[in-house]
Formats: sequence, structure tokens, C-alpha cells
Amino acid sequence: MEWMGLNEIREKYLSFFESKGHLRLPSFSLVPQGDKSLLLINAGMAPLKKYFTGELTPPRKRVTTCQKCIRTPDIERVGITARHGTYFEMLGNFSFGDYFKQEATHWAWEFCTEVMKMPKDKLFVSVYLDDDEAYDIWTKDIGVAPDHMVRLGKEDNFWEHGAGPCGPCSEIYFDRGEKYGSPDCKVGCDCDRYVEFWNLVFTQFENDGNGNYTRLKNCNIDTGMGLERLACIMQGVDNLFEVDTVQNIMKHVIDIAGVKYHDNEKNDVSLRVITDHIRSTTFMIGDGVMPSNEGRGYVLRRLLRRAARHGRLLGIKGTFLYKVCETVIRENADAYPNLVEKHDLIVKVIKAEEESFNKTIDTGLTVLENLIATSGSKQLSGADAFKLQDTFGFPIDLTKELLAEKGMTVDVAEYDRLYA
Ligand code: ALA
Repeated sequence: MEWMGLNEIREKYLSFFESKGHLRLPSFSLVPQGDKSLLLINAGMAPLKKYFTGELTPPRKRVTTCQKCIRTPDIERVGITARHGTYFEMLGNFSFGDYFKQEATHWAWEFCTEVMKMPKDKLFVSVYLDDDEAYDIWTKDIGVAPDHMVRLGKEDNFWEHGAGPCGPCSEIYFDRGEKYGSPDCKVGCDCDRYVEFWNLVFTQFENDGNGNYTRLKNCNIDTGMGLERLACIMQGVDNLFEVDTVQNIMKHVIDIAGVKYHDNEKNDVSLRVITDHIRSTTFMIGDGVMPSNEGRGYVLRRLLRRAARHGRLLGIKGTFLYKVCETVIRENADAYPNLVEKHDLIVKVIKAEEESFNKTIDTGLTVLENLIATSGSKQLSGADAFKLQDTFGFPIDLTKELLAEKGMTVDVAEYDRLYA
């Protein structure tokens, strides 16, 4: 197995599936089109839902993409751990009523072992509890040893994301070695030893959003492989922030801040927050999202403001994110030419948002610090949190985060009542 850059891996994947008759489509926008169930695209299959359900006819029955994705449920964990991030790219091959389990599993194995040249003994596979068909393909046809196979339940091996197409799945794991896990850890446990990097979904059902499943007319294939995760494996690094293109972004922040990574934990958290959030926000603006106080515009604002605040924690004076986005654009220019086209707009929007944040934050911070110092309780009142937002433009999420750092909370119910 040889070191491979993230951009090269992406290309290798897409051309491999082109060689298997797939049509390569460019990533869809992060902004869902005609799908109100999602704020932002969060999986490779999300923009293709109507092809799975049969509502629309796909341009070809076999499609492959590398899709920009954003997932924000773990936003508070981003930075604190090196595992979490909001932005990632998902490699996928899709079949709309064409091939099914046989081809999907064979090609996945071929890609891992022949194109990426992963050692077979490092690969483990999970299947859904009673999916004997998939189990037999892996063990009998492909030759995966039974002690490299596990059967997992609905939580791990049934894929669905809100309403839409879903089904049982089979996941491929890479064993990074004993030093990453406890002696008794195994595939499916939440350790760092067995990294799940590819999910093959055998899409057979449609969930109407209320938990009612109907069988789809066609059996489909939806696979998703985290590009950054695969890059971690191919580059022999521990996490996303050590991957070549992502590391270059962090280096830019390090240069501006004049700090080192792995020098002190607090700075590391800030460096990771900024590196992750500048990736998401650059791509969001490239796809036409503008900062605002609701919906995806608020997600953008929140990410930008969180990154700006961590810049301050690193001791950076004034605006700087608008400079770091240049590295994001450069690192992704070949795969995402729209970033180059939108370069000036992206820089302008980020700079304006940083400037307006800087204006409000100082006053807001002083007010909040006074409230914390004088408060006799561990909870800030909803009225104070509302005033910070309403009068000082100090976002509620930032208030919550700052309080959490001091072991305090906000009376969210009261805040919500006032805000409504
Ligand atoms: N849609 C599947 C996932 O996101 C492949 O994991």
C-alpha cells in the first residue's frame, strides 16, 4: 500500500467506476434542490433520491460521484476531538435498478485490494443480521475469511437518513492495528482500531418519514465512502486534520497565528475548529449560501463566527478567515472549479461577516462576562441570553458554548419563548 494524495484518490475512485460503466457526474450543490427534508446535502445519495424512488429517470442507470457533504449535529464536538468534522466528501457508486449486491461487493473489494492495494488481512466486513445473501457473497464468492466477518444490527447496518430510500447495508473496515484499540475491541465497537470507511447500502425500501417502509420497485445500490477517511488509511495518519490537503489549510492558520500544532491542547482545539469550519463555509458560499439568521444561512453564520472566535482565542487580531479560504480554494481548485469562479465573492462574504462579528463580539463578551461574574447561579436566564442576541448581536450558540466552558447553562425554554 502506497501513500496517495487526497486528490489522486478521488480521481482513482471515479475513473475506476467509469471503467465499470458508470457515468461520472460532478458533485451536486450543497444546497438541496426540491427537497425540503434537508438543510444541507449530507450524503452522496441525497441529491439522487428521486432516481432511487423512480420519480425521475437518471441519465444512466450507473452513476458515480464525489459529493460535497456537510453534517452539523456534532458541531460542538468539532475541534474538541480530532475525529469530528462538519465538511467531508463522499465517494459513491450508484445503481438505479441495474446491478445489485453481487457487483457492488465485488467491485468494492476490487477497488480496495487492487486499486488501493490494501492488504486483504487488514480488511473486515459487516453485514446486516439476517442478510445471508451478502454474507455468502463475501465469504464464498470473494473469499473473505469468516473470522473477518461480523453481523450487526439495525443501528449499524441499516442505512436511512430521514425520509426516502433506505435499506440494509454492509460495511468495510480497515484494521489499523492493536495499538489503536483495547485488547478486546472488535469490529463495530467505537474504537480507533477498526475504521469503518465504506458503506454499501442495498437500497430496497422507502421510508415515508413516519417509519412506514414500502418496497421500492427496483433494487438499487447506494455506496458511500468518506474520502478523507480513505485518505487517512492511505496516508497512514490518524485523523482528518493530518490528511495532506486539510493539513495545508491548518498550516495556513498556524502561519497566521504563529502557534504550533500539538503544543498545547487549547490551541489544538482552535486550530481544528478553524480548519474544519473554513472548509465548510468556503464551499457553502461557493454554492450560494449567504450568512443570515435562519436556516442554512444561520448554519453558515454560526460556523463562521465560531471559527472567528477561535481565531481570537489563538491571539489573532482582526480578520483572517478570508485569507485562509484562499488555501481551501487552491487545494480544491481542480475538483471544484466553481470555487475559483466564485473566489472574489467567497472572500468578500467571509470578510464582511468577520468584520461585523468583530464589531459586536467585544461588547457582547464584556456583557456576558459581567453576567457570569455576578450571577449567583449556574444558569443564565433566558432574558439575559435574549438581550445578548437582540441588543448585542451575540448569537445564542456562542453564549451556550462560552457558558458550557464555565460549567453553566442557559434557560433555553425562556429564551425560546422570548425569541418566538
Ligand atoms: N448513503 C450511505 C451513507 O451515507 C452510503 O453512508
